[in-house]
Amino acid sequence: MLLKIQERFKEKFGGEAITVRSPGRINLIGEHTDYNGGFVLPAAIDKYAYVAVSHRRDNLIHLYSESYQEFHNSDVNQLETSEKGWPNYVLGVVDQFVKKGYQINGFNLYLDGDIPTGAGLSSSAAVECATAYALAKLFNINIDRMELALLAQKAEHVFAGVRCGIMDQFASVFGKEDHVVKLDCNTLDYKYVPLNLEGYQLVLLNSNVKHKLAESAYNDRRSQCEQGLKWVQEHHPEINTISEATVAQLKKYVLPKDENVYRKCNYILAENARLEGVIEDLKSGDSKALGEKLYQTHQGLSEEYEVSCKELDFLVNKTKQLPQVLGARMMGGGFGGCTINLVANDFISDFEQIMKTAYDSKFEHQLSVYAVNISSGTSELKAEEKLKIHEV
Ligand code: GLA
Repeated sequence: MLLKIQERFKEKFGGEAITVRSPGRINLIGEHTDYNGGFVLPAAIDKYAYVAVSHRRDNLIHLYSESYQEFHNSDVNQLETSEKGWPNYVLGVVDQFVKKGYQINGFNLYLDGDIPTGAGLSSSAAVECATAYALAKLFNINIDRMELALLAQKAEHVFAGVRCGIMDQFASVFGKEDHVVKLDCNTLDYKYVPLNLEGYQLVLLNSNVKHKLAESAYNDRRSQCEQGLKWVQEHHPEINTISEATVAQLKKYVLPKDENVYRKCNYILAENARLEGVIEDLKSGDSKALGEKLYQTHQGLSEEYEVSCKELDFLVNKTKQLPQVLGARMMGGGFGGCTINLVANDFISDFEQIMKTAYDSKFEHQLSVYAVNISSGTSELKAEEKLKIHEV
């Protein structure tokens, strides 16, 4: 991959480049909890955004996207969002570096990747993190990984207009092979937990549904939870996030004001508790118990938090007829994208067939299936990789 990227970079811009890759992510459990000060359990996957960068002598930014086969030019001193969409994930990062007072001059940037977009696998976070890491290298900016993830998250808020939590950027930067990461989104404390799934594998089913309202609905959910928090805080100012509230407090202060907001907040507390259960399931190797929690999360996301859609519900319900599947749920922001499924190793290819046949005959979209491996976080691709590629 490194060779291909460097060649394409040369064709587009000439010269040598620093090349960085940053992964997409899955999330085992802990959905919509990140912006509510709760816990998440994501992992980086072996699908990546690739970014190659080099200096320019002026203050211009020249971008090229391989996926869109398109150039975009900008100026470090005049950063603006672009209608094209894809440049915003790069420019948003530049904007954050500049706002934080880091010295950024003109540069060329080539972008490629194999993370499906709109699939809930955080392709945008991967681009932001790869860009942030590459620019930090190029301009000798001394920034630690957590600051990098936070900066990339802010870029998404400002240039993409999605008030996302920290999960995606964190997972992309901090991923570790064969581990999920338990992140406390309130304190940003984290620990790696081995992904122990004896005899089972995680399989992603991409509904290929991309809901137009996904971004506005996402921001709405965030506002609803913030509203719930305000009502609790009127009586308990010591509480900083809805994840610190109790069900009794929600019943007392939120339910009488707005039943819908109550259900949203209540889902968050239940999801945090489920995540703690999953940590125990992973420790004891109890995949069956883990699977049940995935189903419970889906029910919560579909009926309480209301971020699912008929295609995702269909995919999850269908798996309940298959004893070789221990659990399934929609993953990520929702309203389309992927489900994550816990499937017996020797059933994977049958599973793929059964689900494709069922889905493709019912909906206008076609199902894509990905068996993913858990990978490591943002890194620079060096010449050693070149050797490895040759050896294979
Ligand atoms: C999107 C956001 C994340 C997180 C998930 C839902 O992926 O970018 O911050 O909120 O949705 O868990």
